[in-house]
Amino acid sequence: MSTVMKPPAGCGRIAPASSELRAGVEQMRLPDPLGFGTLMAPIMALAYYRDGAWETPRLTALEPLQLAPHAQALHYGQAIFEGMKAYRNLGALFQSPALLFRPYDHASRFNRSAQRLGMPRIDEEVFVETLEQLVAHLDKLVPERLAQSLYLRPAMFGITDHLSVTPSTEYCFVVVATPSDAFFTTPIKAWIERRYSRAGAGGTGNVKAAGNYAASFAAAAPLREQGFHQLLWLDANSRTHLEEFTAMNVFVRWGETLLTPPLSDTILPGITRDSLLALAGPLGLAMQERPIAIDALVEAIGGGADIEVFGCGTGAVIASVEALGDESGLRLPLPAPSVAPLLRKSLLEIHHGLAPAPKGWQWPVGTRKQP
Ligand SMILES: Cc1ncc(COP(=O)(O)O)c(C=O)c1O
Repeated sequence: MSTVMKPPAGCGRIAPASSELRAGVEQMRLPDPLGFGTLMAPIMALAYYRDGAWETPRLTALEPLQLAPHAQALHYGQAIFEGMKAYRNLGALFQSPALLFRPYDHASRFNRSAQRLGMPRIDEEVFVETLEQLVAHLDKLVPERLAQSLYLRPAMFGITDHLSVTPSTEYCFVVVATPSDAFFTTPIKAWIERRYSRAGAGGTGNVKAAGNYAASFAAAAPLREQGFHQLLWLDANSRTHLEEFTAMNVFVRWGETLLTPPLSDTILPGITRDSLLALAGPLGLAMQERPIAIDALVEAIGGGADIEVFGCGTGAVIASVEALGDESGLRLPLPAPSVAPLLRKSLLEIHHGLAPAPKGWQWPVGTRKQP
């Protein structure tokens, strides 16, 4: 689509980008393949929180931020983020050229993350308006193909320059964007992580705290050389039950039943996970949220049971697992998936406006009513 979107009506609260920046976007060409997170859009959204209030976000050039070396987030990790996407509208259900997927659910999870780390809330209307304005400015960078998207990364971090172990009093809110392919475009190999843990009871596992991800790096780095793509975390207490992948929730199709671990304070409540729970019924699958024992799963797969394993998340959409491995030398191939491709197709059709979805899932950019 080559038309330049006008800023959404009623988004007057968000200061637009300069005409030079807009012109720069218009001159950009998308590479093929896109990859994930490599080409950054030249415009970002930015707002600061000072004296107890957020300023109005503005759209500005993507450039380094000034941060004191003793800024709070750098030392104590007061930093959160969201991962969400704007998809090219390929259907006739909506007029808008681009659709955000469940933006208010991302906004409310962002605020739950903020609350857990002692950070200020951001008005959910402002959060969504900011994303809409950014996407409207970057319409040229919303890719056209199914499963491609303009990936959006809202983040908030404490910037107060003090070393006392107390919450920051000043914060920065940014949204950067990158035109991307799905994070995984082929099946993945997952490593059953039996040594390290991702999250403990009462911790920050159920929010998108930046430190949750840093805590996975030591475990993941050596595995990448061996061809593994994601860790499959087990519960921290007994290391016997599945929790989730590095950046995806986990599903297991066991015969005709689709299983996923129940949410707890150690599992991120994925918006894709929640969407799949709603989509599985119409595909004729029984759904169960229940604990899944790793030993029983490995034994059943090894014994030839009709099982598939997949991960789901905004970045990946749905990624089938083709093999499981672990430190004992286990290297367990899985049979070709049957249900994951169907769920992926259903979800992508919704993402791209080709199929209807529950209210609030498809958010047409640029059609906001005056607040
Ligand atoms: C640890 C973790 N679990 C699950 C998910 C999936 O969440 P969502 O579907 O909301 O992207 C993500 C990705 O955001 C994640 O980082």
